[in-house]
Amino acid sequence: MEGNKLLYVEILGNLPEMAEGEVKALLELSNPGFTILEKDYLFLALKANESAFSYLKRLGMAHEYGNLLFSGESLEELYLKAENLEWGNFIAGSFKVDRETMLNCRYNVENLERELGAIIVRQGFKVNLTSPDTLVRVYCGQKLWVGIRKQTFPAKSFEKRKADRRPFFKPIALPPRLARAMINLARAKKEVLDPFMGTGGILIEAGLLGLKVYGVDLRKDMVDGAKQNLEHYGIKNYVLKKGDATKLGKLFPDKEFEAIVTDPPYGTSATLGGKVREELYEKALESIYEVLDGHLSIAFPTSFEAEKVAERIGFEVLEKYYQRVHSSLDRYFYIMRN
Ligand SMILES: C[S@@+](CC[C@H](N)C(=O)[O-])C[C@H]1O[C@@H](n2cnc3c(N)ncnc32)[C@H](O)[C@@H]1O
Repeated sequence: MEGNKLLYVEILGNLPEMAEGEVKALLELSNPGFTILEKDYLFLALKANESAFSYLKRLGMAHEYGNLLFSGESLEELYLKAENLEWGNFIAGSFKVDRETMLNCRYNVENLERELGAIIVRQGFKVNLTSPDTLVRVYCGQKLWVGIRKQTFPAKSFEKRKADRRPFFKPIALPPRLARAMINLARAKKEVLDPFMGTGGILIEAGLLGLKVYGVDLRKDMVDGAKQNLEHYGIKNYVLKKGDATKLGKLFPDKEFEAIVTDPPYGTSATLGGKVREELYEKALESIYEVLDGHLSIAFPTSFEAEKVAERIGFEVLEKYYQRVHSSLDRYFYIMRN
């Protein structure tokens, strides 16, 4: 196909399967039919056209992405390919070579920046180590990979939205990167409903991606607090309701949602609204099924037999990612479709 490029994404190392799933989901949205070509520890090589960039910039569980130029299986091969490349097609202004030595790196890369830099300098480009216009990235893993960085996802940019930095704070909220990954895994393009919204952590991330957000919570203080949080981050396109996640059909009688993303309560009686936990989960899944026309991204403790219950209701369970939160909480993130 015309215009296809090689791209790379460096994913985060704490939940790598889920991070890879997130990249696949965004690729599916922007470049249907394309997928990940190769995986080398936390480095993913993809084939796609540049429209993928407008979706990859939504990533939550990634360090960075960029254009992939070439790979090599020895330093000699890498230098030879570098000598034969027209760097003028990729470098604008000054440059710097920046190396990432992954845990599985199997080459002696000590002098790599200097040697590769010298090859590029010989083509007439200037090095600037403090503020280069172009960053040439080299990853060392099972192979050597050379690319041009397009965007990074620094921890700082997510930290300012951590639960305790929001005006309305409860220690129940998901970390922003994880919330964002769940939204992307639900393939949301225009809207998201969170029927157990709590303080609105998922809705904040979805709102910042430009999606219309809908939220429900049983408690009025949560509805007021989530509104305060959304306003704080400049999100205006929202509909929040006080109500029961097991009665969504009544709350939204004429609406079908493209994506539902949610983190139901795990267990204290205060957050369960008096229901037995398993019963609440089952009823909520039935109610979600009724108002969904698309994907559901949902977290459940591992003790709940979510697949069995969801399949009985009619969901197709597509993906499942495990996370150990602490000694008394293990959960799965499920991606389902109706
Ligand atoms: C784990 S918290 C969600 C945390 C949320 N992701 C956040 O960022 O704050 C679960 C929420 O579900 C609410 N809840 C419990 N039972 C409910 C029900 N039947 N319908 C709607 N909300 C309910 C609780 O009040 C609580 O705020």
